[in-house]
Amino acid sequence: MGTLLPRSITELGAEFTFLTRRPEHYPEFTPDGSPHPLRLGRAVVKAETNDLASALDAARRIHADTPIDGVLTSCDYYLPTAAKIAGALGLPGPEPEAVGVACNKALTRAALDRFGLAEPRHATAPVDDPARLRAAAEAVGYPLVVKPTDLCAGMFVRRADNWETLEAAAGELSRFAVNARGQRRDPVVLLEEFLDGPEFSVESWIRDGEIHTVGVTDKCLGGASGFVETGHMFPAALEGEARAHLVTTAETAIRAVGLDHGVVHTELRFTAAGPRIIEINPRPAGNQITELIRHVTGVDLPTIAVELALGRIPHSAQRTDTLPDGRRPLSAAVSMLVPAEEGVLARIDGAEAVADHPSVVTSSFKSPGHRATAGMDNNSYLGSVITVSPEQFGARTLAERLVSSIRVTYGEEVSP
Ligand SMILES: Nc1ncnc2c1ncn2[C@@H]1O[C@H](COP(=O)(O)OP(=O)(O)OP(=O)(O)O)[C@@H](O)[C@H]1O
Ligand SMILES: [Mg+2]
Repeated sequence: MGTLLPRSITELGAEFTFLTRRPEHYPEFTPDGSPHPLRLGRAVVKAETNDLASALDAARRIHADTPIDGVLTSCDYYLPTAAKIAGALGLPGPEPEAVGVACNKALTRAALDRFGLAEPRHATAPVDDPARLRAAAEAVGYPLVVKPTDLCAGMFVRRADNWETLEAAAGELSRFAVNARGQRRDPVVLLEEFLDGPEFSVESWIRDGEIHTVGVTDKCLGGASGFVETGHMFPAALEGEARAHLVTTAETAIRAVGLDHGVVHTELRFTAAGPRIIEINPRPAGNQITELIRHVTGVDLPTIAVELALGRIPHSAQRTDTLPDGRRPLSAAVSMLVPAEEGVLARIDGAEAVADHPSVVTSSFKSPGHRATAGMDNNSYLGSVITVSPEQFGARTLAERLVSSIRVTYGEEVSP
């Protein structure tokens, strides 16, 4: 989103000021050597964005100099702050309280319960209180999923089939007290009944409380935690009735948390008892899902996010890609290269053949010298491939086959 949102802002003829507490956190250049799109705004303004009063004060100063039309963030950890700044400046944006509920997984569960939506059993406990953790686990039952209320990218989300695994997962979480943006974390752990079934996401946008659903994406999972996103395809390989059931459930959940404006990415699992919400993200989908949708439908969700932030009615072009043979892509997929082990990358072989494949839209891989982690979350990827296909549901097999053709060699030596 850090590259897609600036691109959309520029394409819509707007300009942006980038407000950040740590400009040095963001790269100056993209891997191809061009300036990072976040650096192409009017200015980079430094302020303590982890403190709402300071962030608001900085926004007011920018607003006094050059009036602001909208407020957006590319980082999950600042979604509530962006909504509050927009609200305080009288600009378009979602109800800040609803964003706060959607960004906290325990508050989301409570809101869905109050609304009467079918939910997995769930309970919270202080992360450092073994007695209450044990009681929460007894209320939920094994197998269960242990997760933080306030992180993303699958960080510290673990399945536990017994007390020992749960205790270890909670211990690991309690040692991660501050997130990657220097914010102190909620010292609470959320336990949820393990939901068995394939996983999907519903991509929507809302204006004046009216929900427009663009489509359903499917998700493949794997990695060391079993919950790492290894790929997505759009549209999802789903029958009409099942798809309608997922969409209705997602739209009900969006209403239940009170989201009334902006782009929303809702994750669900389709269990034997029906669709169940995993989480509701008040922002466009990540992991290149918005690019898959753009290739197939022409709808560009980052652009819609910007249009909505500016208070405009989204009317992004319904322009689809054309394949080299003149046909339209009916499906697009992304497949991730997830490390099978920790270590320093010595070589990645096969990347050129992948890039040259006619169905590949983009592909990128880490360079030798990169330090691979154990593949426990979505931050560990070694690369990804996006494919398009003229066959309905055809893109995923292509993307997976191409990623599996890549050979990764580990070692201390970096090849020249
Ligand atoms: N109750 C559950 N039952 C089964 N699987 C679950 C459950 N909760 C979470 N998961 C799995 O763990 C993954 C990550 O969980 P979740 O989406 O809540 O965390 P996250 O860190 O916000 O993820 P991301 O930011 O990558 O979307 C889910 O996509 C799902 O595969
Ligand atoms: Mg998620």
